[in-house]
Amino acid sequence: MFRLPRTLAVAVVAAAALTACRLSEQTVKIGEYASLTGKEAAFGQSSHKGTLLAIEEINAAGGVLGKKVELITEDDQSKQGESATIVKKLISRDKVVGILGEVASMRSLEAAPICQAYRIPMISPSSTNPKVTEIGPYIFRVCFIDPFQGTVMAKFAKDTLKLHRVALLTSVSSAYSVGLAKYFKERFVADGGEIVIDQKFTEGDKDFNAQLTAIKAAGVEGIFVPGYYTEAALICRQARELDMSMPIFGGDGWEAPELIKIGGAAVEGCYYSTHYSPQVDTPAVQAFVAKFKARFDGEVPDAMAALGYDSAEVMVDAIRRAGSTEEPAVRDALAATKDFEGVTGSTTMDKDRNATKSAVVIMVKDGHFKFVQTVAP
Ligand code: PHE
Repeated sequence: MFRLPRTLAVAVVAAAALTACRLSEQTVKIGEYASLTGKEAAFGQSSHKGTLLAIEEINAAGGVLGKKVELITEDDQSKQGESATIVKKLISRDKVVGILGEVASMRSLEAAPICQAYRIPMISPSSTNPKVTEIGPYIFRVCFIDPFQGTVMAKFAKDTLKLHRVALLTSVSSAYSVGLAKYFKERFVADGGEIVIDQKFTEGDKDFNAQLTAIKAAGVEGIFVPGYYTEAALICRQARELDMSMPIFGGDGWEAPELIKIGGAAVEGCYYSTHYSPQVDTPAVQAFVAKFKARFDGEVPDAMAALGYDSAEVMVDAIRRAGSTEEPAVRDALAATKDFEGVTGSTTMDKDRNATKSAVVIMVKDGHFKFVQTVAP
């Protein structure tokens, strides 16, 4: 399904030539592609700040392999097609030794085949769709995957919210949404719940009245919306306007201050699962929150920031352990990452290059995100 941009042979020859160039560089160049503008700007901005903070700290402590780390960040504008273009540029023009990105699974899925073809290690900080790392042995992530996240929210719906009859409202143009809906449904139904109605939308939609009217008529006790924050907030508003007061809940894609800015009173009492909460009282989290606030005007870091930070740390740790910036050595070191203590917990790469970590459930209360519980894998 994810075809390589050109024949593998050509890419491999090009990769060998690029390796020679990269080894003579004065800095260790790491590329980052992120949605700094556009529909998911909140994701990219936040992830980038975490990544930048990690690189600045690493450089303040002397860099890696006797060189400074140079972070080269490019904006994919949340647009389809841009991630592929940018990642090619980072590899061919900037000669980066590793790549960090993206948050959204659909954009990681776009860029990963290029990183794989050129044999440049890529770490997605927070893309949770299983297919991302299935692209090949050069593709890693430092977060959990959606079969786990789907299970967390299915159990939460059943055991905590005590729901039996639930509606799904899925974004069909988002790999993340389609996957998370599937894993939620599998677990919810296996535990005796019922998905009464399954409605669809596409990224960028603004009017959800037709889907919500159908859901209202189906008589459900709750709605699971595995989408991103803009659509999720609009869905909550329009549901409340239709006098639908049942719980509406989602996954990590809901996490952004914009959820509350756009959703207002309509998102009060809503729940979502994510990777971390700044309210968790562990030394690692609290130290990170303090550093981040000092660096970024008092801003409190969210899950994307924490995972962006951890992704950069894990990449540099692998370069250090590899003792070289040669991509196969860095790749092997990344694959061997074990018990690396970060902000979002301990990272160990499993055989599929995924990390296993706890999830947290967050609730919107009085216009703020409130930590509810941690769910261990
Ligand atoms: N997990 C989402 C995806 O794969 C992205 C995301 C991560 C959004 C963390 C918010 C917080 O598309």
